[in-house]
Amino acid sequence: MRLSRYFLPVLKETPSEAQIASHRLMLRAGMIKQASAGIYSWLPLGYKVLRNVERIVHEEQQRAGHIPMLMPTLQSADLWRESGRYDAYGPEMLRIRDRHERDLLFGPTNEEMITDIFRSHVSSYKSLPMTLYHIQWKFRDEVRPRFGVMRGREFLMKDGYNFDVDYDSAIHAYNRHMVSYLRTYERMGLKAIPMRAESGPIGGDDTHEFLVLAETGESEVFYDSAITDLTFGDRDVDYDNREECAAIVKEWTTPYARTDDTHDESVFAEVPEDRQRRSRGIEVGQIFYFGTKYSEPMGATVVNDQGEHVPVHMGSHGIGVSRLLGAIIEASHDDNGIIWPEGVTPFDCGIVNLKQGDAEADSACEGLYHALRKKGLEPLYDDREERAGAKFATMDLIGLPWRITVGPRGLKNGVVELTSRRTGESEEMSPEAAVDRVAQIYSGT
Ligand SMILES: Nc1ncnc2c1ncn2[C@@H]1O[C@H](COP(=O)(O)OP(=O)(O)OP(=O)(O)O)[C@@H](O)[C@H]1O
Ligand SMILES: [Mg+2]
Repeated sequence: MRLSRYFLPVLKETPSEAQIASHRLMLRAGMIKQASAGIYSWLPLGYKVLRNVERIVHEEQQRAGHIPMLMPTLQSADLWRESGRYDAYGPEMLRIRDRHERDLLFGPTNEEMITDIFRSHVSSYKSLPMTLYHIQWKFRDEVRPRFGVMRGREFLMKDGYNFDVDYDSAIHAYNRHMVSYLRTYERMGLKAIPMRAESGPIGGDDTHEFLVLAETGESEVFYDSAITDLTFGDRDVDYDNREECAAIVKEWTTPYARTDDTHDESVFAEVPEDRQRRSRGIEVGQIFYFGTKYSEPMGATVVNDQGEHVPVHMGSHGIGVSRLLGAIIEASHDDNGIIWPEGVTPFDCGIVNLKQGDAEADSACEGLYHALRKKGLEPLYDDREERAGAKFATMDLIGLPWRITVGPRGLKNGVVELTSRRTGESEEMSPEAAVDRVAQIYSGT
């Protein structure tokens, strides 16, 4: 993409309504525009990152064997009356009436709808295990939408639902989700810690939230610092292997890590004092085992291997796709702007032409642009007639992790400059070497 032809409405002024860095930076970098309270348009740059985050979520869900589909945003109230949640949900649910006076709602989540789909088509344990998921817009009429996409009213969520014949199999589904989530967040350059959260009516260890540590997070968290040393890395996991998934879950759930809902000072006191951490975090996902809570009232049963009709065991598992953009920025920015991890960056590499209109500089930039694209990379070439300072400021603000700077002086010596956004370090090298280096950096993402 050439910047002169792109739509990147960066703001010079810091928007006064934004209280936290990610909100400020998303507005300043021209990623989003508020449409109304808690509802945003995704401008081209923001949309690109949103799609990248979504792609990673899809890839990791499918790696775990989960099946993608798509359910509508509008749902019939009748389904929610069956589970009893139509009345229970409260004012967060946006209720709508159509021209035929039928009650609809804008879905805040999809347990009822997926259970209805399941009961209509599945009747035997032989079809199980099965996990279906979608990535779809949700609406929750939050009392206080704030912090930009972090707490929106309309937001994009991945929500997945497992259907299993018994408890053990459903717990494996729970574990499989935890493993796939660990890998998902790490690919986005995030450390998201699974923390024991408020247990539902089932009780026990049946729900974990994933939290990204950040001062501006809305949740209060308590953890053993040993958990932040764990990395998932490039493990080759067999998602059908119950023991293997359970062992990974054990690894991540053994160190103390809880939100304030489940925090227990007496248990926390057993953590060595120098490893006790009290901090804040952003909830970027949650996994939940809830057994037969929906399958029983809604009649989602299967025939088991004994020929008996049993309600299926279910769980639901969510990732805050749009909130993740805010969380990534909170975790990765500086005074000059965003610093995108390679896994989600909107463009792989910036090209800054220090002297637009200079024949040699222009042709070197064109050469780099084509060479990077040939390697399957997506460069953003700042080809505007602008001062060098303004070009650097834009690149720093929008946070591309790598930048190649091209100027007549360097070209006389046959070199361009490759700069890391994260460290600020620059290195001179030939244009060919710069292209190879950038290609090599992205070969692992
Ligand atoms: N209003 C919102 N704006 C953006 N993302 C959200 C919002 N509410 C929930 N999410 C994201 O969707 C994920 C799954 O939804 P879940 O039902 O667990 O939310 P929740 O626990 O009600 O969230 P919260 O406690 O932050 O209100 C959450 O972990 C979060 O990342
Ligand atoms: Mg939650």
